[in-house]
Amino acid sequence: MEGLLKGRRVLVAASGSIAAVKTPLLVSALVKAGAEVRCVVTKSAAELVSPLALATLSRQPCLQDSDQWDAARPRPLHIELAEWSELVIVAPLSASSLARWVHGDGEGLLASLLLACECPVLAAAAMNTAMWQHPAVQRNWHLLQQDPRVLPLQPEGGLLACDRIGTGRMADPGQIELAAASVLLQTDAVGSIARDWQGRHVLVSAGPTQEGLDGVRVLSNRSSGRMGVLMAQAARLRGASVDLVHGPLQVPVSWLEGLRCQPVQSSAAMGDCLDQLQPSADAVLMCAAVADLRRVEPEGSVDPKMSKDQLLQAMESGWELVPDLLGQLAGRRPEGQLVLGFAALAGSEEHLLSRGREKLLSKGCDLLMVNPIDRPGQGLESSQNGGWLLGPAEEIEACPPQHKLELAHHLLNCLRRLAA
Ligand SMILES: Cc1cc2nc3c(=O)[nH]c(=O)nc-3n(C[C@H](O)[C@H](O)[C@H](O)COP(=O)(O)O)c2cc1C
Repeated sequence: MEGLLKGRRVLVAASGSIAAVKTPLLVSALVKAGAEVRCVVTKSAAELVSPLALATLSRQPCLQDSDQWDAARPRPLHIELAEWSELVIVAPLSASSLARWVHGDGEGLLASLLLACECPVLAAAAMNTAMWQHPAVQRNWHLLQQDPRVLPLQPEGGLLACDRIGTGRMADPGQIELAAASVLLQTDAVGSIARDWQGRHVLVSAGPTQEGLDGVRVLSNRSSGRMGVLMAQAARLRGASVDLVHGPLQVPVSWLEGLRCQPVQSSAAMGDCLDQLQPSADAVLMCAAVADLRRVEPEGSVDPKMSKDQLLQAMESGWELVPDLLGQLAGRRPEGQLVLGFAALAGSEEHLLSRGREKLLSKGCDLLMVNPIDRPGQGLESSQNGGWLLGPAEEIEACPPQHKLELAHHLLNCLRRLAA
């Protein structure tokens, strides 16, 4: 999350779940991203993760309940920490700490700090599946979701430390870091976290497609899929339920948590998958870099591996244009569905704008983000993107190069305005 967390004051708190062994990874990632980090542990968490490790990684003392009762402190520690924090991350959040929090019980440093802070709070629950499914925990989790300043991160499924396979694993530190950056980008003056996509179904395509030449070789492009995956996560973190149809990605696996992923390889498979998911979507965000050409399927079975001579021959004949997925999709969209497209182009600003306008009209989407791929430090494979956003009434908005997560939120804001 290069740049987005730099200089931000983040308090990381761990409560008594075995997932606290992953808290040092989160602290380390936040510090590497340039955040100022302070750590708090509950008494149980201090049994499970070393406060010394957290102090070392955060370059600050790791604070515990005993520090709250220090007569040398001129101000109450929980108030000082609450006022210092721009964001509090509770990772992991145990069943007990959740219960204390939603019932307004301030016993202990973490509990009193959570009641005192007015900044946004990210809370990543972690516990055994039976504990998680217990009606009392579910009621408390539901109560937590009512707080506009809190972004609760559901536990994931998988193998738990208690040997059970089920829901209960804490969100990955990489996912929590992403959510932290997203919350800091999208919080209003009173600390409320944007949930304006709640109840919406968003369909996103991301990454390149690969068109097979033979059984081993493919024609593809250098798209990493970052822009699409971050668009999908931005929508999810603002409350949407998200399907992501993607080609081969070069993003951390943790960035896919919480998305319904449909991995595909070819443009035809991507088209089929989008076909099925499109009817129920409120918005379709076409960020994938679909290949332009594919081999005309040879008669019979695909050659497992052509010789170099056969390959040269094949390159000279038997090619066809890949169908225009964005155009097809926009053409058959149901009433009220919003469609955003991306166009990766090279050349002068004038050329990009005129090609972009042609594409917006020919494809029939609501918004088209024209992003140059020949400027250093932005576009394909980069963490930054920028360009021009073209709208239906000839509007042109210049978007300076910025982190792809920031651009994703900006584009979601523009779509919300169109829907209003
Ligand atoms: C080894 C061990 C692992 C535990 N793991 C969890 C857990 O994953 N989630 C949870 O809610 N409680 C877990 N507990 C129970 C909590 O630590 C216990 O409820 C404690 O009171 C939590 O207090 P705290 O929220 O103040 O840290 C675990 C306990 C032990 C001994």
